[in-house]
Amino acid sequence: MIATKTLLALAAAKAVTAHFGLVFPEWRADTLSEEGEAVYNQWTNPCGGVDYGEGNITDWPLDGGAIKLELHHPYTYVFINLGLGENSTNFNISLTPDFWNATSPGILCVDKVELPIEVEDGDLASLQIVTGGESGNALYNCADIRFKKDAKGPSNCTSEVEYFTVKDQASVDEDDASSNSSNSTDSSDSESGDDNAAGMLNVNKAALASVVGLAAAFVMGIGL
Ligand SMILES: *[C@@H]1O[C@H](CO)[C@@H](O)[C@H](O)[C@H]1NC(C)=O
Ligand SMILES: *[C@@H]1O[C@H](CO)[C@@H](O)[C@H](O)[C@H]1NC(C)=O
Ligand SMILES: *[C@@H]1O[C@H](CO)[C@@H](O)[C@H](O)[C@H]1NC(C)=O
Ligand SMILES: *[C@@H]1O[C@H](CO)[C@@H](O)[C@H](O)[C@H]1NC(C)=O
Ligand SMILES: *[C@@H]1O[C@H](CO)[C@@H](O)[C@H](O)[C@H]1NC(C)=O
Ligand SMILES: *[C@@H]1O[C@H](CO)[C@@H](O)[C@H](O)[C@H]1NC(C)=O
Ligand SMILES: *[C@@H]1O[C@H](CO)[C@@H](O)[C@H](O)[C@H]1NC(C)=O
Repeated sequence: MIATKTLLALAAAKAVTAHFGLVFPEWRADTLSEEGEAVYNQWTNPCGGVDYGEGNITDWPLDGGAIKLELHHPYTYVFINLGLGENSTNFNISLTPDFWNATSPGILCVDKVELPIEVEDGDLASLQIVTGGESGNALYNCADIRFKKDAKGPSNCTSEVEYFTVKDQASVDEDDASSNSSNSTDSSDSESGDDNAAGMLNVNKAALASVVGLAAAFVMGIGL
């Protein structure tokens, strides 16, 4: 009994050292557990080998919501991508144009990851969470979501892990210079009246000089 438990614990420990958990929104499947490891493979793009519809759909706010991860590395690069529609396999909208560097293992919970596009109440989509490290190899987990007004976050979004965003110097410089440009945005023509959308637009305009910015602007152009 004890021996079995120890073996299981060792197997689990081995598994979790290399992989990550997606706590919120709920992942398609537990790809970390021993059972999950036998069936799925987090190294597999785009969703660790888990198909759409294998898990539950979580309600997520219209303007972006919380992400809660369980990380196991001394530091982890985190990328969050969105694929619109049911069973999307094209995660072509980046929610982290400046990707994150989470600087310790543990629970990382971020209250609000902003959405750079407008969506309708009830729209279906999937989030792809990609983590990487120094080696450049990437791990994948996906969560299926439904955009809902008044959607709730996780019950506990206390973060044990700090993170900072990594952006290239060109967009840093442009962002500093752009803080004045907010007065050129006429918020009255925005149907949602959403300050966040205006803020996002400014960030994307400001980052035009960078490759990342071009990608973000492209997304903005299509999305708006
Ligand atoms: C989906 O939700 C049900 C009911 O809450 C739960 O039992 C099940 O474990 C969830 N599925 C996944 C993959 O977490
Ligand atoms: C999702 O799309 C893939 C590929 O297009 C297809 O093989 C799969 O059956 C679809 N799954 C669902 C649940 O619709
Ligand atoms: C990310 O953080 C780790 C740990 O603090 C550090 O060693 C690494 O250089 C950082 N990477 C970048 C790109 O900032
Ligand atoms: C909330 O989560 C943190 C870890 O992120 C944990 O330390 C704490 O005990 C949790 N609190 C509750 C009430 O579950
Ligand atoms: C905003 O613009 C004013 C004048 O146009 C300038 O003096 C000020 O430094 C600018 N502020 C920032 C943060 O760029
Ligand atoms: C802010 O608005 C003032 C007055 O309309 C204008 O003169 C100024 O150039 C604007 N600043 C920027 C950066 O657009
Ligand atoms: C993202 O992919 C979808 C589906 O392939 C496509 O319709 C949409 O135009 C793409 N958007 C961007 C910004 O590439």
